Amino acid sequence: MTRIVTTSPGFGKHGKVPGRLAELGWDLVRCVDTSKPDGGLSEEIAAADFLVVGLVPVTARTLENAPKLKAILKHGVGVDNIDIPACTAKGLPVANTPGANADAVAELAVGFMLAMARAIPAGHGSVASGGWDRRVGTQIGGKVLGILGLGNIGRSLAAKARGLGMAVIACDPYADAEFAARNGVEIVDFDTLLARSDYLSLHVFGGRDNTALINEATIGKMKPGARLLNLARGEVADMDAMAAALESGQLGGVALDAYASEPPDRSHPIFRHPNAVFMPHSGADTTEAVENVGLMNIADMETLLAGGRPARVLNPEVFR
Ligand SMILES: NC(=O)c1ccc[n+]([C@@H]2O[C@H](COP(=O)([O-])OP(=O)(O)OC[C@H]3O[C@@H](n4cnc5c(N)ncnc54)[C@H](O)[C@@H]3O)[C@@H](O)[C@H]2O)c1
Repeated sequence: MTRIVTTSPGFGKHGKVPGRLAELGWDLVRCVDTSKPDGGLSEEIAAADFLVVGLVPVTARTLENAPKLKAILKHGVGVDNIDIPACTAKGLPVANTPGANADAVAELAVGFMLAMARAIPAGHGSVASGGWDRRVGTQIGGKVLGILGLGNIGRSLAAKARGLGMAVIACDPYADAEFAARNGVEIVDFDTLLARSDYLSLHVFGGRDNTALINEATIGKMKPGARLLNLARGEVADMDAMAAALESGQLGGVALDAYASEPPDRSHPIFRHPNAVFMPHSGADTTEAVENVGLMNIADMETLLAGGRPARVLNPEVFR
């Protein structure tokens, strides 16, 4: 029997995915024990045919005792937690699911903008605790949204923001010019993006090249009072710099879904700032997105079992 081991809490639970797994007769083992750094993966990997990965790291060490393993499937998009060269060295293909959760992440970004513009967390807290703290907010229509990284998520957000009446500018060296022209998105350089955005939303991938793109100096180039959203990866925006800029008023709001370590150290001053809003890395967590992602993972595993090559392999050299 084909055995799938997963570190993703959502894989196999939503929409048509459980039924599809049952039809295929595959065995699913969950390694989601939060008291263990790897969720319990090291105890189960030896019997795995496929590994469906959430956010737990996959290193050369993870693969040491995995004689049956045929491939690593990312349950999502960001593969910065997977040591792809180590997988390649073992001849293991790595595939992810580009675009499958883009709308979910983009919708959370819209929610964050509205939460900051209308102080929804403060209003909720006030009413729920017996108060009546009415505040005058601002509208997002007519404001400038800057998008760093016009990939699947950035493009989905751009289209939604245009529908809400925002002006959208974006910075991405590989921006789809045809998409931008069709959707009224202006492509600009990084400094222009910083200088003109009322809301700046980060949608680049993580990793060394994109570490601390948002830091004290780059925040200093932003419009005073602008609001910053990070739904990408924690390392892309420096937390100390964001906290200091909230304190000085250089940033009027910060919305975070991604943190350099997860869960983050809650003693950091940013978690006490009233103009900051947080989610626990939930951008992709909608039943629709989790279903899309899971069905793509299953399709890739079926292709591999049939001797084929999935469409979205990140290390195609393993097939040569
Ligand atoms: N919050 C969540 O739950 C969640 C869910 C899915 C993805 N993500 C993160 O979002 C990232 C983006 O996802 P996607 O599906 O849009 O990926 P994608 O690969 O489709 O798009 C990323 C885009 O960023 C651009 N880019 C990379 N570095 C850049 C830089 N320094 N400046 C400008 N542009 C740059 C790339 O050219 C690419 O177009 C993922 O890599 C992942 O880290 C977060």
